[in-house]
Amino acid sequence: MNPNKALWEKGDFTRIARTMRSSGEALVRSIGVTKGMKVLDLGCGDGTTAVPEAQAGAEVLGVDIATNLVAAGNRRARELGLANVQFQEGDACDLRQIEDRTFDLVVSIFGAMFAPKPGDVAKEMVRVTRRGGRIVMGNWIPGDPTLVAQILKVSSAYSPPPPEGFVSPMTWGVESHVLERFAGAGIAADEVAFARDTFTFEFAGPPAAFVTEFRTYYGPTMNAFEAAAKNGRDAALQAELEALFKSQNRSGRDDRTSVQATFLRVSVTV
Ligand SMILES: C[S@@+](CC[C@H](N)C(=O)[O-])C[C@H]1O[C@@H](n2cnc3c(N)ncnc32)[C@H](O)[C@@H]1O
Repeated sequence: MNPNKALWEKGDFTRIARTMRSSGEALVRSIGVTKGMKVLDLGCGDGTTAVPEAQAGAEVLGVDIATNLVAAGNRRARELGLANVQFQEGDACDLRQIEDRTFDLVVSIFGAMFAPKPGDVAKEMVRVTRRGGRIVMGNWIPGDPTLVAQILKVSSAYSPPPPEGFVSPMTWGVESHVLERFAGAGIAADEVAFARDTFTFEFAGPPAAFVTEFRTYYGPTMNAFEAAAKNGRDAALQAELEALFKSQNRSGRDDRTSVQATFLRVSVTV
């Protein structure tokens, strides 16, 4: 079994994605998706950005490595009556089923950053984009004080060291790595722009319940809890994450959680 695929099919990422919908919609509005545009949404999950892209009138293909999330995306599209978005299984490291220069826009929000061969991912995204087209990535930033980077930091202290040769997904949040990867795909540095942006997670429950949601449904957090439990440290991990989520809750209420997370927005002209 491909461990990258197994990680994301574990649990049910749709439970977390539900808390990300309004920021997904806002992000799509800011990208400038127009009617008839051909869009690839890579690492699309169940369509947090692919669905609003289709609602804006684009012809959207969502590609994701997780079979369950592809099925969830197709189900959402059906329920919403959207005939202009399709979800299919695929690996961002190798998009051989897609012809060169097919898309006007390739979007990957916290998606392709999780594929294990970043150099291949950059080459594939550039290959399937038409000349004059664009790539927009959203990547979490290592060491950032906001939610997602902090979840990873806390979790890694409870997890075994990664295997030899593992490239952290968080390196996609470092500008020098991004430039190097796109340079390897033939893109000059002045065609790559960076901006800091914010995603807000909105959960209809208290921070501790949101931690339980991650613990129960989010593959990377599930793995961290399994590793912690082997050393009797799962209660300590729960307590650390609860303190983190509570300290970052901006809802002004105890029964709701609203947490902002900063990410690196990468815009590439191909
Ligand atoms: C944090 S989720 C984000 C999903 C979606 N973009 C969103 O914003 O809701 C990461 C997604 O990347 C997908 N993914 C991870 N590795 C991948 C790969 N090698 N190729 C394609 N998708 C991948 C996962 O299955 C998962 O759906």
